Amino acid sequence: MTTKTGNLQHIAIIMDGNGRWAKKRGLLRSVGHKKGAETVKEITRAAGEMGVKYLTLYAFSTENWQRPAEEVETLMGLLREYLKSDLKELQENGVRIIFIGERSMLPADIVESMSKLEEETAGNDKMTLCIALSYGSRQEIVQAARKIAALAKQGDIDPEEVDAKMFAGLLYTKDIPDPDLVIRTSGEQRVSNYLLWQIAYAEFYFTDVLWPDFDRKCLEDIIKNFNARERRYGKI
Ligand code: IPE
Ligand code: IPE
Ligand code: MG
Repeated sequence: MTTKTGNLQHIAIIMDGNGRWAKKRGLLRSVGHKKGAETVKEITRAAGEMGVKYLTLYAFSTENWQRPAEEVETLMGLLREYLKSDLKELQENGVRIIFIGERSMLPADIVESMSKLEEETAGNDKMTLCIALSYGSRQEIVQAARKIAALAKQGDIDPEEVDAKMFAGLLYTKDIPDPDLVIRTSGEQRVSNYLLWQIAYAEFYFTDVLWPDFDRKCLEDIIKNFNARERRYGKI
């Protein structure tokens, strides 16, 4: 029997622990990232089959640019492979893919592949897979504030008109609902600049499992845990 997703429309995951997974086995960090990329495919498949409508995966943060050049290269290489290899499966499973983050910091060929994949899957409606790439939530919020300031300066809007709806409409995530559930693997209990605006009423689940070891069963168990929670939104 598959786990029912109930009111769970959108799951956002902080995929952490690739490096530690490799270290534990005396392997290079790059091996952990490679295994982590396989987990991405497995979890995308599982989430789709379980009826999750939106899955957002934190693949690379703006802060991750500060890692050693060699590691950044490995991650960009894996990303290139992923972008090339996955179209067929995404199409077969009705997955629409979108990317959120600061594209100008990414290599031009990757940006091109991202746009192509977005266009080619735009008509799919079973699940939306949103990949956060070169993503930083504070930067996202700041650029929205900048746009609003510019519109006000030009006289296109009155500052009194600015509300949460307008603000949300200027974020990278404007076309998708807020996450219901945020999962972070690897035992860390922090948000690391992920979807700060969007997680206002999200439920959190922190697991010690390292991302390369995360599987369908882990996801099912977390969804069951989510389904037993009561969300109140400030009401009684
Ligand atoms: C997550 O694994 C992948 C990225 C952040 C790109 P890490 O590389 O952060 O692995 P740890 O946290 O060092 O184990
Ligand atoms: C968060 O993981 C970013 C991604 C999973 C892409 P990090 O490993 O970069 O986060 P910190 O540095 O432990 O906060
Ligand atoms: Mg980490």
